[in-house]
Amino acid sequence: MSYDCISLDRREKIGIIELQRPEALNALNHQMIKELEQVFMELETDENVRAVIITGEKNFAAGADINDMLNFNPEQARAFSFRQCFARIEDFPKPVVAAISGFALGGGMELALVCDWRIADKTARLGLPEINLGIFPGAGGTLRLPRLIGAARAKEMIFSGRTINAQQALQYGLINQLADDALAEAIETAEMLASKPPIALKLAKQCINQAFDIDGFKAIEFESIAWASCFATQDQKEGMKAFTDKRKPEFTGT
Ligand code: CAA
Repeated sequence: MSYDCISLDRREKIGIIELQRPEALNALNHQMIKELEQVFMELETDENVRAVIITGEKNFAAGADINDMLNFNPEQARAFSFRQCFARIEDFPKPVVAAISGFALGGGMELALVCDWRIADKTARLGLPEINLGIFPGAGGTLRLPRLIGAARAKEMIFSGRTINAQQALQYGLINQLADDALAEAIETAEMLASKPPIALKLAKQCINQAFDIDGFKAIEFESIAWASCFATQDQKEGMKAFTDKRKPEFTGT
């Protein structure tokens, strides 16, 4: 499939999605959100791809496109919602890594929040400046940010609209790693993740994601069923046999 606002590069077992509207600092417009959703649909069924990276040309993304939103009424604002696209990325059955350089603001930072792993370099500036536009984060930020860094820090960022650098983001627990080269480090991380057993990874991701939304008893019950189902896979046999054989496992995703 061909895309106008993003590109997809397949490298061995990794899919690298690059946001490509550099003239607008990769502001997320309707077309880009549509294409992001499409590319994740495409990658979901691609058995060769075992991990995905989202990155941006020069910048990650400076938020939702303000020009698009300028004259919205509430109904139009609701229709512009990123909910469906971001839910697809969050529930994507393979790990997703965000490689963040430059601005990751507003909806752009919220895009990074739906990824499983965030790596930034020294140029990164992260924030939710929506309050300065007379709105507040509307692409999951009020839910996902407090879950990640706690309500106090989340309120600080959302109420003040202040942008933080990568060092602060690391201290807050907002990013996993601060690297010299975010994309190079993300590729290394994605390669590591692509070498893991895909079914066990998918189930672990599902358990962690839904543990927040269901009660503790159900979460443990679900984990127990998902965990037990790993024993129906070849990868469990391979992983444990490789351990007893004292060799590296080769996981096939079966
Ligand atoms: N929407 C539309 N265009 C944007 C944009 C955005 N979010 N962010 C940057 N741009 C455009 C600018 O308008 C400018 O375009 P022109 O050259 O045509 O004028 C171009 O990108 C370069 O930007 P600047 O000249 O402003 O670059 P700068 O280096 O001086 O400043 C910046 C960079 C601080 C990131 C500044 O561009 C900025 O504040 N951008 C807006 C950030 C923002 O408020 N994001 C939240 C959006 S709302 C949202 O995301 C809602 C939600 O919850 C889903």
